[in-house]
Amino acid sequence: MRAVHTVKELHTALKSKEHVGLVPTMGALHAGHAKLIETARGESGGVVVVSIFVNPIQFGPNEDYSRYPRPLEQDLEICKRLGVDLVFAPSVEEMYPQPQLTFVEVSRVSEHLCGKFRPGHFRGVATVVLKLFNIVQPQVAYFGEKDMQQLEVIRRMVADLNVPVKIVGVPTVREPDGLALSSRNNYLSEPERQAAPALYAALKHAAGRIRAGEKDAAKIQSAAIAELEQSPLIRVEYFEIVDPGELQPVVTADRNVRIAAAIWIGKTRLIDNVFL
Ligand code: PAJ
Repeated sequence: MRAVHTVKELHTALKSKEHVGLVPTMGALHAGHAKLIETARGESGGVVVVSIFVNPIQFGPNEDYSRYPRPLEQDLEICKRLGVDLVFAPSVEEMYPQPQLTFVEVSRVSEHLCGKFRPGHFRGVATVVLKLFNIVQPQVAYFGEKDMQQLEVIRRMVADLNVPVKIVGVPTVREPDGLALSSRNNYLSEPERQAAPALYAALKHAAGRIRAGEKDAAKIQSAAIAELEQSPLIRVEYFEIVDPGELQPVVTADRNVRIAAAIWIGKTRLIDNVFL
């Protein structure tokens, strides 16, 4: 396995490679990322590239950009063990050599859920992902369903802009108690970690209510918020039932919806979602 840090080195390393699969990450790799890499490795007879880049333009001014973990040596070991061919770990200067004046905005899909509380976040994500696609020129790219809105933003960007990359969604990897793996779980204290599985539990309960015939989205939403806020450690940012196309909130929950939520536990923000 090789690790390269510049676009030029990457292009040299990928010269005349026919099939490239890309797994974009911000590093601090865990079993969720590993599942993406394993999926890429399993599907691709070609080259598997993992990018590791903590992208400043997708973080808000009061978010965790500076304290986001960056254990590069450990990440490289993990990539090596998983059979990655090439790691692309550029600096901020390499990715943004001059002030970025061009951005990708995926409207509507970015409007609700996290988009409402993290203004500019999906614009930063879509922009860096399109840059990575143009740099690496993969045939296939892998994204986790854990970040469902991100996955839909990328799918829509690729469709709307005729980007010649196939997008593969990979199911969420969870701890035995249901908590979705996330680099941000490391921020949780022990009592906070104990409280965190309530998020997935509330999403599953809401899905169960819909399967049992409840259709009133507002009713399901308020029951879920009350359930979560039984824990004094949890504050709900949003709990929404949305349509699968443009992720707009629904009034009537039918059997083809997505349920997504974000909670704060102390200073840590966690997100999760379920499909029906
Ligand atoms: P990051 O949070 O590092 O996640 C990289 C990829 O891993 C994303 O596609 C994410 O959905 C997936 N992932 C994270 N936790 C997962 C889990 N528990 N199960 C399955 N997949 C999981 O998402 C980003 O980075 C960035 O926004 C990025 C797309 C790299 C653009 O900067």
